[in-house]
Amino acid sequence: MLLDILKYPDKRLREVSQAVKPEEIHSFEFQRLLDDMFETMYAAPGVGLAAVQIGVLKRVMALDVGINEGELIKRDPKVVINPEFTLQVGEVVWEEGCLSCPDLVVPVKRAQYVVVKALDREGKSFELSGEDLMAVALQHEIDHMDGILILDKLSRLKQDLYKDKVKKGQVVVR
Ligand code: NI
Repeated sequence: MLLDILKYPDKRLREVSQAVKPEEIHSFEFQRLLDDMFETMYAAPGVGLAAVQIGVLKRVMALDVGINEGELIKRDPKVVINPEFTLQVGEVVWEEGCLSCPDLVVPVKRAQYVVVKALDREGKSFELSGEDLMAVALQHEIDHMDGILILDKLSRLKQDLYKDKVKKGQVVVR
């Protein structure tokens, strides 16, 4: 089922999401939430979606940065529950967009390579590592879980310009 993606300035986007209880992962409702999150993310389209973006304050994301296979990009869906960084190294500046901040691209300084420990959709512990887009997407979605948006990475002046644009209804929502 397609879910509505919350958009700035929705206050729920500022909430800190709570850890998912391991016993909750196998429930029908939670598994359906995961399916709905992927459907919503692919439809948007986006490469990552944190549950808070559809109004569920749980530390879970749908992620798919794809795998390059020649000219094709193959799907590579990852469910990432209760993620924790175990390594963040290097530095990269990435031009980021966000499904919750339409019409906004922000150059954000991130770690270039990260390793994350998390639970998968079966509740099993696994490690996910990646550089560049994968690293950036993980950091972006974990920011969402802590109520942080790419808007916050802008200078105060540019933040005010965007807020003003939103207020005047000049932001183009896809
Ligand atoms: Ni986002």
